[in-house]
Amino acid sequence: MKDIRIAIIGHGFMGHEHEKMLSDFPGIRLVGFSDIDPTQLEDVGPGLKRYASNEELLNDPEVDVVMVVCNNNQHRDIVIQAANAKKDIICEKPVAMSLAELDEMEEACRKNGVKFTVHHQRRFDPDFRTAKAVYDSGTLGDVYTIKNSLYGFNGNMHDWHVFISEGGGMLYDWGVHLLDQMLWMMPGVKIKSVFADVRSVINFEVDDYFKILMRFENGVTGEVELGTYYLSDRKEGKWFERHWFVGGNKGTAYVDGFHPEGKIVRTSHLLQNVGNKRTMTSAGPTRSFGPAPEGTILTEPLPEVHTGHENYFENYVRAYHGEEEFLVKIDETRRVLRLMDAVRESAKTGRSVDFE
Ligand SMILES: NC(=O)c1ccc[n+]([C@@H]2O[C@H](COP(=O)([O-])OP(=O)(O)OC[C@H]3O[C@@H](n4cnc5c(N)ncnc54)[C@H](O)[C@@H]3O)[C@@H](O)[C@H]2O)c1
Repeated sequence: MKDIRIAIIGHGFMGHEHEKMLSDFPGIRLVGFSDIDPTQLEDVGPGLKRYASNEELLNDPEVDVVMVVCNNNQHRDIVIQAANAKKDIICEKPVAMSLAELDEMEEACRKNGVKFTVHHQRRFDPDFRTAKAVYDSGTLGDVYTIKNSLYGFNGNMHDWHVFISEGGGMLYDWGVHLLDQMLWMMPGVKIKSVFADVRSVINFEVDDYFKILMRFENGVTGEVELGTYYLSDRKEGKWFERHWFVGGNKGTAYVDGFHPEGKIVRTSHLLQNVGNKRTMTSAGPTRSFGPAPEGTILTEPLPEVHTGHENYFENYVRAYHGEEEFLVKIDETRRVLRLMDAVRESAKTGRSVDFE
């Protein structure tokens, strides 16, 4: 089968990541890069083209697919230009800054008959896949809460990420990933309502903290929390905290770190609470927070998952040749944008918002 020839617009942080991933990827030939700032192209690897402009890249007959990997406020125009140039398109997340933008982009792709999908490789993050494997296994019984959180320690946010007009802020940045993962955890399950707090703790324009509660129609409350400014006195090691917590009536899963460590803690029998009587535990007569009866708590390892970001492009290659569907559907990215609108509305009004 012919290699898919991909060229990339934007050689910043993520452009470099794509260069590493795609320079020698089965089924893909990376052709080259364009960037509005020519200095960004100075370290493009050997054998790859450095286009003088986006137009030159879009007009190159040797390019089948264009990846749009620049500032969020550039996605709409460049996707539309690429569609009009009859190129298939992979756009970085967040696909667009608004639903109206996404509608225009999708219409341009439909009109030109080009393939259009979005880079949501974090659907293959091992921590997410581990939490999902636990959820899917049913081992925790009736799940009532799933928490998905990420905390940075020193408030770092750089460059265009601190400007609203460029699509900055953490909701557009990590929020999109965390919400997409939460929706993908339980595909097809509707969200009844959303309550959110979104703040600028140390930034002037953009959000750098959010807590989002989603009430799903299957009874699960999903919680997504991100803070960039959880100060830590740690001197070495990692500079963030990443956690999943999944709670059910038969067990609890702790999934910590991007390459997760953690455990499943289960009980051999559901605790029988007795009305009008005190429960005698090894800590004496107690109510809510005493230890469980001896021998009833079982600790189990987390399931092993074998996933990585390369799986995104493996799916892309197969889907491009019609062997399966693209993993990321535009309607799924539209649902995340709608959810982010509800999040912003709730944060503004201080009230929960009915969703689906
Ligand atoms: N999927 C992920 O995990 C992930 C991770 C990081 C960033 N991203 C996304 O990738 C995109 C880029 O983010 P980044 O962190 O690499 O930013 P960046 O600032 O490091 O890089 C952006 C590059 O785009 C160039 N650029 C801007 N406007 C342009 C235009 N009109 N034409 C050509 N080039 C232009 C800039 O000069 C810069 O080199 C964003 O949409 C971001 O959300 C995705």
